[in-house]
Amino acid sequence: MNLLITGCCGHIGSYLTENVHKIKKIKKTIIIDNLESNRYYSLFNIGNKNNIKFLIRDISRKNSLSDIKNINYVIHCASMTNAEKSFSKKNKMYRNNIDCLKTIISFCKKNNSKLIHLSSTSVYGKQAKIVDESCEKKFLKPQSPYADIKLLEENMLRKEGNALNYITFRFGTIAGVSKGIRFHTAVNKFCFNAALNQNIAVYKTAMHQYRPYLSLRDAFKVFKFSIEKDFFNNDVYNALSGNYTVDQILKKIKKSRKNIKVKLVKTLIMNQLSYKVSSQKLNKAGLKLKSKIDQDIKDTLKLLKNLS
Ligand SMILES: NC(=O)c1ccc[n+]([C@@H]2O[C@H](COP(=O)([O-])OP(=O)(O)OC[C@H]3O[C@@H](n4cnc5c(N)ncnc54)[C@H](O)[C@@H]3O)[C@@H](O)[C@H]2O)c1
Repeated sequence: MNLLITGCCGHIGSYLTENVHKIKKIKKTIIIDNLESNRYYSLFNIGNKNNIKFLIRDISRKNSLSDIKNINYVIHCASMTNAEKSFSKKNKMYRNNIDCLKTIISFCKKNNSKLIHLSSTSVYGKQAKIVDESCEKKFLKPQSPYADIKLLEENMLRKEGNALNYITFRFGTIAGVSKGIRFHTAVNKFCFNAALNQNIAVYKTAMHQYRPYLSLRDAFKVFKFSIEKDFFNNDVYNALSGNYTVDQILKKIKKSRKNIKVKLVKTLIMNQLSYKVSSQKLNKAGLKLKSKIDQDIKDTLKLLKNLS
């Protein structure tokens, strides 16, 4: 079986590329990125455990994949992703991410490829109670253009009905080390600040409020499960390793870096919005995610040791 990974240089795509040989069934992998994120390092020493071939492509272009054939599965990670910056880049992000998905949908339909689509738990926005995938529309309150686009993407796929075989995973905020690691996201940003002995800015009401996180190791388990179990039922699933408060994350960081500096700020910080998400639906489907993000935090801080 052959796999196509888009956005292979990114935080998730680079981890997936390095581990793809662990997915039974996959014999050949084509990996694609437009290199906009400049994470060339993700391409170094990829090895050849899984017969991997890299192509530079901008998949927001309609015909960018027209020469690729015989692909059984697509894992679509290509996206502009910085939620905080998405307010100033709204139009560009909208065009890029929606056009990428259009290309992918048309490719999958033409080639009969099964699609893993990545959405985000940020579609839930701010919530007082625990939310799950079956919540009413009024409980979906995306708070950024990035999260808004994720909902639009989910709807695009829903509209395809049975013309396409896909599954959407709403990933919690990723924690963990990969070649293409980025530091816009909560845990990684905190680790970076801690390593540089900088203030960690915490939104004043966020300290004891929950949000969902996903270890990179668990993210990979989701991909492996979906392909090995042929789990493509045109539905939406939350994927998270756990819900944690900012305070709990800071305590985990303190285990490795005792003297961190925390500053409470009044400006709303996108990655500290509060919502608690249920993982029951994926559990019931047979996948229980339980990696400890303590390990991801430890690994990230280790990567950054001796910085200050
Ligand atoms: N990292 C997280 O915390 C998180 C959480 C929830 C969902 N997700 C979703 O998972 C997916 C992957 O996230 P990530 O953290 O790896 O993102 P990332 O920003 O680290 O990587 C995305 C990659 O896509 C590439 N790309 C962007 N536009 C492209 C285009 N037009 N053509 C080809 N390549 C293009 C970029 O160059 C980059 O290397 C995204 O859809 C993201 O929204 C991520």
